[in-house]
Amino acid sequence: MYNSKITGVGKYLPDNIVTNNDLKQWMDTSDEWIQERTGIKERRWIDAKNSDDTTSSMGAKAGKIAIERAGLTTNDIDFIIFATLSPDMYFPGGGVRVQDLLGMPTVGALDIRNQCSGFVYAISVADQFIKTGMYKNILVIGSENHSGGLERSTRGRGVTVIFGDGAGAVVMSQTKNNNEGVLSTHLHSEGKYAKELALEGPSTGRWVDAIMAENNPDDVSYYPYMNGQFVFKHAVVRFSEAIIEGLEKNNLQKDDIDMLIPHQANLRIAQFIQKKFGLSNAQVYNNIMRYGNTTAASIPIALTEAWEEGKIKDGNTVVLAAFGSGFTWGSVVIKW
Ligand code: ACO
Repeated sequence: MYNSKITGVGKYLPDNIVTNNDLKQWMDTSDEWIQERTGIKERRWIDAKNSDDTTSSMGAKAGKIAIERAGLTTNDIDFIIFATLSPDMYFPGGGVRVQDLLGMPTVGALDIRNQCSGFVYAISVADQFIKTGMYKNILVIGSENHSGGLERSTRGRGVTVIFGDGAGAVVMSQTKNNNEGVLSTHLHSEGKYAKELALEGPSTGRWVDAIMAENNPDDVSYYPYMNGQFVFKHAVVRFSEAIIEGLEKNNLQKDDIDMLIPHQANLRIAQFIQKKFGLSNAQVYNNIMRYGNTTAASIPIALTEAWEEGKIKDGNTVVLAAFGSGFTWGSVVIKW
């Protein structure tokens, strides 16, 4: 058996910065409300008129950087795993687009649909492929284009102000050293809460024909819905459980964590977790202030920034934890 380790990281954010005050052109909101409830100051939204960024193209750009930093070329990548809830097309998924955009050989491409937990699920899948020896180098991407599908009105403000666009990627490579790389992954779901955070239509359960036939101006089923407080309450519990599960599996204590990278759902959630575990500011990385919640992209973007800032070093214990729509949640413990 082999271990898998992260050998390269990369990120891509659209240029267009949308501040909290900018949102006021579409909805009744305030910088104060958004910062107090979420910690968000600004986010990146693709400027649809002047940019050709898509979920796949952003993922490809982040992936290219990760491959270069791993000291590899696209020819060395054996497999692509692409996590998103906002693919360019209903089908096919974004992984095949990345294979094409990066001019890669005809390697397999798998799409992961686990929303805010998507990247944690993707790392876990890549880890299993590498452990068994099936693949040596896997490109794992999380990318989201939320801005095109958010309701820019006061009706949609509870969801719209939170989400941002962007992409992050890692290369995971085989190592024969069983004491380094991914030490454990834990994945969970609780589908009875699927509708508490969901976008229901268009889908096979609520197809375009039905939406158009009803022509109901109050129909918001094609915009994301979130039962915010309900999600918040579950998030703080499940984040904690996932982190504890990862620590216990590896006989680690909370003091052993050099860097916790929580999915950037809400700064208040991350601060609650930090306080609960008694972690210092140096032990937790947050960048939701600048990017909002980028769902499957949030962990790889934060991981990349933390690494670029020299906050993750060889030998560090890095914990990734996520919770989101599904509900789904999970954790990854890494010896960097
Ligand atoms: N600006 C101003 N006022 C607003 C806004 C806004 N953007 N949005 C809502 N309000 C108003 C509401 O209308 C409501 O007004 P009322 O009291 O007059 O009815 C009031 O503010 C309070 O609204 P709540 O929804 O109760 O606000 P809450 O304190 O719950 O904060 C939030 C909302 C930030 C969404 C929070 O619940 C949250 O972060 N939830 C968890 C999100 C999360 O973790 N998601 C998981 C990952 S996402 C994924 O997987 C895709």
